Amino acid sequence: MSRAILVTGGTGQVGTAIVRENGGRFDVVAPTRAELDLGDVGAIEAMIAGRDWAAVINCAAYTAVDRAESEGDVAFAVNAEAPGALARATAARGIPLLHVSTDYVFDGSKAEPYREDDPVHPLGVYGASKEAGEQAARAGNPRHIILRTAWVVSPWGANFVKTMLRLGAERSELRVVADQIGCPTGATDIARALLTMAERLIADPDAPVGTYHFVNAGEASWHGLAEAIFGHVAAGGGAVPVVLPIPTSEYPTPAKRPMNSRLATDKIARDYGIAARDWRVMIEEVVGELRA
Ligand SMILES: NC(=O)c1ccc[n+]([C@@H]2O[C@H](COP(=O)([O-])OP(=O)(O)OC[C@H]3O[C@@H](n4cnc5c(N)ncnc54)[C@H](OP(=O)(O)O)[C@@H]3O)[C@@H](O)[C@H]2O)c1
Repeated sequence: MSRAILVTGGTGQVGTAIVRENGGRFDVVAPTRAELDLGDVGAIEAMIAGRDWAAVINCAAYTAVDRAESEGDVAFAVNAEAPGALARATAARGIPLLHVSTDYVFDGSKAEPYREDDPVHPLGVYGASKEAGEQAARAGNPRHIILRTAWVVSPWGANFVKTMLRLGAERSELRVVADQIGCPTGATDIARALLTMAERLIADPDAPVGTYHFVNAGEASWHGLAEAIFGHVAAGGGAVPVVLPIPTSEYPTPAKRPMNSRLATDKIARDYGIAARDWRVMIEEVVGELRA
């Protein structure tokens, strides 16, 4: 049986983590954008037809949330049309598709963590493009997993931890939004979840499919996350800035963000036995790796 897995977005946070975490389990092929441009539907079809893939994991996305407000065409091409093409091409060959999505499909008005069947209502173009991608993946391939995650951090790529460490080294005081809450999540943790799900989907034609939420356990505001990051820097003897809490209204951005980004993870725990570790443990690891 084929053990070849196609991972798109292999240079991104989650794609890099999959390559690192795979550990020889699968024959992972992670083409660069130059090798597979997801804006090119013909190239997607040729890539899927070119090998006997056991599964496809789509980690590629247009992730520039604010820029998407003025680049809707590109965002929809990568985040909606490409997942649709991947879904149709994989379905035609009976290949399961695992597609990564986002908390930004929700508007954040719910008081509790979001569940998989809560109604979606994106606030911006990025969220709308990701929501369209979910629909395209569902419609195109019945053997799909849509894995929604949030607040992704890692020692590589662009993310909040790296931004805080850079700004903290430059300034004595930082002002960080304290009224948006979410679940900081390690790209490594997402990669482990995706590899576990892929393994089961490949082995078991009756493995559960559909939409799942995965984030690390616990919750924080961006301000709380910044304090945790600098707590580890200080514990390691590094100089840290003062981190002042501010409301979202004092940090205007082109795209509106959900005030509540928390996702409930009991479904993935029940169906796949995947338990999320606490975000504080994950953050200590990420900061440690970045400072090593
Ligand atoms: N980051 C977050 O906080 C967050 C939160 C919730 C959900 N997510 C979702 O998680 C998934 C992974 O996110 P991430 O943080 O790993 O993203 P990322 O670090 O921004 O990486 C995005 C990847 O997509 C690739 N890509 C973009 N446009 C492409 C194109 N036209 N053709 C081929 N590849 C293209 C990038 O390639 P280049 O290196 O060439 O640009 C990169 O490898 C995405 O589905 C994202 O929507 C992310």
